[in-house]
Parts: sequence; structure tokens; C-alpha cells
Amino acid sequence: MVPKPILVTTPPPATSAPSPLLNAVSPLKTEEKPQTQTLKTPTTTTQKAITKPSPSSSTTKTTPQQRVELKRKTNSWVPALMLNAFDDIINNFIDPPLKPSIDPRHVLSQNFAPVHELPPTECEVIEGSLPPSLDGAYIRNGPNPQFLPRGPYHLFDGDGMLHALRISHGKKPTLCSRYVKTYKYTMENDAGFPLIPNVFSGFNSLVASAARGSLSAARFLTGQFNPANGIGLANTSLAFFGNRLFALGESDLPYVVNVTPDGDIETLGRHDFDGKLTFSMTAHPKIDPDTAECFAFRYGPVPPFLTYFRFDGNGKKHEDVPIFSMLTPSFLHDFAITKKYAIFCDIQLGLNPLDMISGGSPVGSVASKVPRIGILPRDAKDESMMKWFEVPGFNIIHAINAWEEDEGRTVVLVAPNILSMEHALERMELVHAMVEKVRIELDTGIITRQPVSARNLDFAVINPAFVGKKNRFVYAAVGDPMPKISGVVKLDVSKGEERRDCTVGCRMYGEGCYGGEPFFVAREEGGEEDDGYLVSYVHDERKGESRFLVMDAKSPELDVVAAVRLPRRVPYGFHGLFVKESELRKVSLS
Ligand SMILES: [Fe+2]
Repeated sequence: MVPKPILVTTPPPATSAPSPLLNAVSPLKTEEKPQTQTLKTPTTTTQKAITKPSPSSSTTKTTPQQRVELKRKTNSWVPALMLNAFDDIINNFIDPPLKPSIDPRHVLSQNFAPVHELPPTECEVIEGSLPPSLDGAYIRNGPNPQFLPRGPYHLFDGDGMLHALRISHGKKPTLCSRYVKTYKYTMENDAGFPLIPNVFSGFNSLVASAARGSLSAARFLTGQFNPANGIGLANTSLAFFGNRLFALGESDLPYVVNVTPDGDIETLGRHDFDGKLTFSMTAHPKIDPDTAECFAFRYGPVPPFLTYFRFDGNGKKHEDVPIFSMLTPSFLHDFAITKKYAIFCDIQLGLNPLDMISGGSPVGSVASKVPRIGILPRDAKDESMMKWFEVPGFNIIHAINAWEEDEGRTVVLVAPNILSMEHALERMELVHAMVEKVRIELDTGIITRQPVSARNLDFAVINPAFVGKKNRFVYAAVGDPMPKISGVVKLDVSKGEERRDCTVGCRMYGEGCYGGEPFFVAREEGGEEDDGYLVSYVHDERKGESRFLVMDAKSPELDVVAAVRLPRRVPYGFHGLFVKESELRKVSLS
């Protein structure tokens, strides 16, 4: 299926007032030129027959009959013409994108601009050589809107696109970029225009919310889409558990995806775990490396504002644990586990529908709220054993790791604390996140906090074999400013007790070069904690070229072990995952 074209125009400066007449921008997009002259003929295409594993009964894919029926309804010219005209009126006159944070010409500038899908295409190793440990696929998720937004658009609003670098030794690596074929993507691709409003940017005032709510209701009533099938974007992250690979976005169920032996990415469908998973799931589940259990949660605007749940090593879901002691709706993007506990942070970023009356967003910071950390036994069947601790000024979007000390009486959490939560959504470039080590004595409630670096760090990872266990090394992206990432640092958090900066390694990508979240791949199982590689896509804005960088995690300079020139740029995005060849084979057999 060919995505609808998008024109990416040269963006104005961030401070300039956008024109409300975005429709003056053609909805046609130009072909993106390959970045090098050595682009190889694709090794396969979307039309090429591939052996597809059969989705299980709890993985649903939109059927051809549903698509034909919806296409007939969306193409019925009277409702389509009227509703699209109403959409244009909202975007141009009722709620135009007046702020840079939701102006698509600003948000989608430079290497944030979307790209077409790319079938598996061979790449050249231009420096060093790829280590044998990197046998599998590095896949990174991120927003890549299918259509040029005609109204407000936030960075978080784009359709999920996966960029997979398939590495099989003895062959050239291949890069493949594919949309996650969500229900939203599929229906809008068939219709040829957007059907579902942008969640983060489309409800910034009472009038806008009423208008877009009415439009969505009309589209639903005329059969153009059915929200019961999920309206999520699957644009945030990936996870591998229960022998399945998932593309995740926290507003919907996970989508099962697969990387084929020839490097292509296919979406197998939306997965509800035999009907046991409802509504949504965090994009940051935690997998215990020793038991293969997966721990997760969902949050929402109505009680219970938080629901915790877990899966066994085979991906079988246990019962929901509703958390009613979460007293107000909180924007809960991530959490942490230890061997005994699940740890949640009830932060100052909340859902405030009343703010829409004054022209604000329903998601915003609540200055009067005192952040809390909630600790629940991770095998709990209810919340009776949950303890909450007030931690003023501790606001996290992401967690890094947690573990127990003092025979389980103390929990240690390492996470980047957002120092200016009020800017988290609208002025990301003003956000400073400082990684802290927080010790919570469970019996006494005494909390000790130690900053481990003063730098602006987020998108941090560890060796995945240490999730939930005491570890030393953290690899964090340097915000310069966020969401742009100019380098990666290695922290030794065991030095936190000495009250000094814990940085023990650093690599900056160089002028005009920006990367993403690093990912740690161990050199061999059971090795030292930092014996492995850091991988990331890095883009050179001066040349318009992207590379896949492999760095030695043990060396203080994070030496480059290998660099792969990519046949086309990879836009900046969110979270990635390295999936081993052995895991990819399990996906194909499941
Ligand atoms: Fe995230």
C-alpha cells in the first residue's frame, strides 16, 4: 500500500506566528531524494510474497470486507465533502495552530519531517565492522504522520513508523521503514484523508474540543470509523515478550509486528491477550530478565486512574489490579520494577479538563500537587499492600531502573527528574531533566535524593540483563535542547554516594549531528555489566545523511566500533530495541 503523499515545506522560525491558512499548503508531498548516489535496488518490495505467521485469535487485523465497507462509506461524497469542509473550518478559523509547539511547519521541520516507507535496502558499512553480537535487528519507533497536518499537530501525534536495520552476518545490513498498520493508519490510508483527530493538539480549548468532538461523532455515526477498534498510533516504543514483538503506544492495545528474514517489517494485528487486555497499555512495560515476566499498567481520566497488571513468561495476562489510591488522573508514561516491587510516580502532569475553558490543554501541570512515589508488591492481587511516599519536586516522565537494598527494606530508584514540568508538553526545549538516585526506606518513609549528573539527560537505558536489579551503568541521551540529542553519556551511579558527578564516559556526535535514545546490546550473555555496545541512529543535518552508529560501551570515549551509512535519512523519533536473531525466529514460529 502506498502512503498518501505529503509536502514538507521549509519551516518558519519557531518564534514566528503561523498563518492560520494552512490549507494553502498543498496536501501533495514531494518525493524524497535518496541521500547518496549509491542507493541499491531494493532487495524486496511490499508486493513480494512473504511467509506470514498466522496471527493468533487474540490478534485482530482489519478484514478486507471491513475495509471495503468503510471505504464505501468514507468515499460517499456527501458526508465526506461536508465533514472535510467542517474539518477545514475548524483548522483554519476555529482552532488554527497558533503556537510553535503545535504548528506542523515548526514541529515537522528539519529531520522531524516524515518520510515514505522504504522496503529493505542494502546499506554500506563505512567505518569499522559490525560485531558478531549484533545479530538480529535494531528497530526504532517514532512519529511519522501519514498526511500533512492541516491543523494543530504535536510531536506525539504522528502515525508510528518503525525503522529496522537488519543485521545478518555474511550479508550486507538492510534498512527498512514501515508504518505500523494500525486501525487508524489503515482506515485513513484507504479514505485518503485524516478521520481521527490529533489527541495531543486537537483539544486545546472548549470550542476546539466541542468542534472536533462533534466532527468525530459525525464521522462515527456516518460509519467512517469505529473507535472500538482503537485509535492509537503505536508510535512510541517496542517490546519483546511472550515470544511476540510489539509496537506500542500508550493510548491503545499493543500491535504485533514481525521482521522477516529479508528485513521487511509486517504488522500482524492489534493484540488483546485472549480478551484480557482492555483499552490500553503503557509503552514502557518492564521485562524481568530472569523470569521473562512482563509488568505493565494503563492510566486514564476516570477511576481507577491507574491499573496495574502483569504477564507470565509465556505472555499470559494475569488479572488487573485497579489502584484507587491514585487519587487524581496523572500522566503516567513509565514506571520501574525491582525483584519484589512495582514503583509508580504520581507526578504533577495531570489531566485538567477545566483548563480547556480558559483555552488551555486538558493535559497540563498541576503546581499545587505534591508528587508521590507508590510502591506495590509486584505480584499483588490488589492494592492493599501499596505504600505511597510524598517526594516534593520529583516529576519523571521516564524511569531508568530500580532495585532493593537492606534485604528489601529500601528501594532505590534512578530516573531523570524533570525540573520544569510546566514546559514538558509545550516548551520541550526549556525542559531540563536531571538524573537522580532516590532511596526510599519503606519502614520509616525516609527518602534520600542524590543527583548523579547536572546535565540535561533523558532517554536513558541500561544493560537489559539488569532490569530490576542493582546496577552501576546508565547510558543517557544529552538533550541539546530536547527533543534534539547531541550525544550520549555513560554514568556510574554507584558513585552517587560520593556526591559528585557520575559521568564516566561521553561521546558527542559533532556539530549539526543529532542522535536518539541509545540502546545497549551485550557482547555476550553473562559478561560484565558494561561489556557491550551502544547503538543509535545519528543524523547529520548539514549533509542530510543518517548513520547507524555502534559504540563500545566499555571505553571512556564510547569509541565508534562501526558506522553504517543509511540509504536514506531516518527521522528523529522515540524508543528503540535490539531484537536478537533467536528472538526473531520465535516471533515467526509463534
Ligand atoms: Fe517514553
